[in-house]
Amino acid sequence: MSSGPARKRDGPITVVPTGAALGAEVRGVDLSRPCAPDELATIVAAWHRHIVLLFRGQRLDDDDLIAFGRRLGPLHRTEGLTYGSKPAGTRAEIEIVSNQREDGVTADGRPADECTWHTDMSMFERPASASILYAEDVPSGVGQTRFTNLYRAYESLSESLRRRIEGRRSIHDFAYTAMGEIRAGFEPVTDKSKGPGADHPIVRTHGETGRRALFLGRRGYGYVLGLPVDESDRLLDELWAHMTRPELVWEHDWRIGDVVMWDNRCCAHGRAAFDPGLRRRLRRVTVMGEIPV
Ligand code: OGA
Ligand code: MN
Repeated sequence: MSSGPARKRDGPITVVPTGAALGAEVRGVDLSRPCAPDELATIVAAWHRHIVLLFRGQRLDDDDLIAFGRRLGPLHRTEGLTYGSKPAGTRAEIEIVSNQREDGVTADGRPADECTWHTDMSMFERPASASILYAEDVPSGVGQTRFTNLYRAYESLSESLRRRIEGRRSIHDFAYTAMGEIRAGFEPVTDKSKGPGADHPIVRTHGETGRRALFLGRRGYGYVLGLPVDESDRLLDELWAHMTRPELVWEHDWRIGDVVMWDNRCCAHGRAAFDPGLRRRLRRVTVMGEIPV
């Protein structure tokens, strides 16, 4: 699918904002064909502006997804990080987000539980810029993915909260997933101030837009360096309550064939629990971003 020439455009690309704090639908693009440079520039500009982009009606195999992701930067390899079981031979850059085992049976563990607010790969020194998620088989009306605009969250902070986080960094815990499960090979965290995972500035400047955003990874075992743990917990609770206020959030209701591409440098995302008996399977590639500053 991806070996053809850069696609000849049959119509203009249109960008339709959701009207919420973030998100836009992009029409007129077939992501299974290599984008021409001007098309890619249009997509990237829309992405910088709207943070989350939706492309409906796509049909992508793993090679297509990887090829599109690589246009945006080097890809993270996701061995051992996946939420769903991965069929043998799946390429290292592909993450399966699924509540099904490969034989189609509902998986063990908690893949249909709530996926709490988080940003992807922020436990690494170089967290993700883009995550690109393709809905292969999803129910509609449940299992929506929500996104929050962290530029606006930063811009609307109270003066006192802004002062309390100035110059501070926090640990982005590696031991637990956003579903609350401990990752293979990790010990339970007993002291958050000594937990595993990279630390990053709480306010970061986006490498491409130059705008400042809050950056906290996930709440669970986060820790603000230099504070007593209880004070860090209180500060993080206040920040998360602020960051996830409904006016900052847009929620995407999936259809099969949707591609959603978001910017982990300036949004967080999560998903409500859904009926584990429903089949929900998506595939993702994750682009490596810059070291946060
Ligand atoms: C992800 C993710 C949420 C969902 O793929 O990074 O958080 O709705 N997915 O499946
Ligand atoms: Mn995620």
